[in-house]
Amino acid sequence: MNALITGASGFIGSHLAEKLLKSGYAVSCLVRKTSNLRWLEGLNVKLIQGDCSDRDCLNNIRDFEYIFHLSGAIKANCSELFYTANTKATENIMDAIEQNAPCVKRIIYLSSLSAFGPNHDSALLHEDAKPHPVSDYGNSKLMGEDAVLKYKDRLPVSILRPAVVYGPRDREMMLFFKFINAGVLPYWGESRISLVYIEDLINAIILAAERKEAIGEIFFISDGMIYTNKEIINEIASALQVRLIKIRMPKSALPAVGFLGDCLSKITNKTTMINRDKVKELMHSNWVCDISKAKNKLGFIPKVGIKEGIKWTADWYRIHKWL
Ligand SMILES: NC(=O)c1ccc[n+]([C@@H]2O[C@H](COP(=O)([O-])OP(=O)(O)OC[C@H]3O[C@@H](n4cnc5c(N)ncnc54)[C@H](OP(=O)(O)O)[C@@H]3O)[C@@H](O)[C@H]2O)c1
Repeated sequence: MNALITGASGFIGSHLAEKLLKSGYAVSCLVRKTSNLRWLEGLNVKLIQGDCSDRDCLNNIRDFEYIFHLSGAIKANCSELFYTANTKATENIMDAIEQNAPCVKRIIYLSSLSAFGPNHDSALLHEDAKPHPVSDYGNSKLMGEDAVLKYKDRLPVSILRPAVVYGPRDREMMLFFKFINAGVLPYWGESRISLVYIEDLINAIILAAERKEAIGEIFFISDGMIYTNKEIINEIASALQVRLIKIRMPKSALPAVGFLGDCLSKITNKTTMINRDKVKELMHSNWVCDISKAKNKLGFIPKVGIKEGIKWTADWYRIHKWL
């Protein structure tokens, strides 16, 4: 079983590479010249150089049975970058597959709950409801979905929309761990959130690749629970054994925080997770999904709830001195 992963140097991609190897796949990883390969070191993977945003360098995508398209930008200091890394890159990958690897058995596109958008009331929406992304990130991922679905009648595609993913190697949720570890956290009111621990997401990705029921379908992926931000914060504080002071701030202050994030990003030339685009998402308080379809069609059974997941993540951050 020959597999190609794009985005293999990242948080989710590197965990997927490890699990595919353990499951007996021969794994190739599409990486950029500039990719940091530390999570792939020591793994028996073949590295293929390529940049998904440049169609001309994707002609070496051939003879793969399984293609996992995970590469993408989850933060950016200008909106065009989202569209290049998430939309254009997906158009390029799909075109390269159709041209050079038409016998592929499955193409998995890792989209996001952000592509679908927030829930507006307590009833959970299903995958076939109309997407309504609120950020450029979400919109660029939805346009990536459209680029994949264009090939639905010719190629065996599946799309997963994970909720917030957390676990070892993740740098985005780490920001909250860091604030909480320092004992102080800005808090702007209650929200409801779906989460998925990395190991469960990887199992869902592999199920989507191996189950024929996944062809042509879109699935929400989470651990099946709905958490309030208070529960998540308390769980992190408990795993880190800190007493936390929450500093109440009005939600209306968030755009100013996003603006400061963008300014900081321009000054330092580094992307920050809190920026104006992210704030467009944070202004909504229902980032939740229903995973009945993944359970019924894929046989997906999430195994890790936040108690263990957050404890293992906190332990990993501590051991690796990320906190
Ligand atoms: N993390 C989450 O909570 C979450 C939730 C839902 C969906 N997702 C989706 O999951 C995917 C992976 O996310 P992640 O959290 O693992 O992010 P990550 O750690 O930032 O990894 C992103 C990966 O994409 C690669 N990449 C970016 N632009 C590329 C390009 N033009 N050509 C080739 N490779 C490129 C990066 O390579 P370099 O090493 O070269 O930068 C890196 O390997 C993304 O598509 C994201 O939208 C993530």
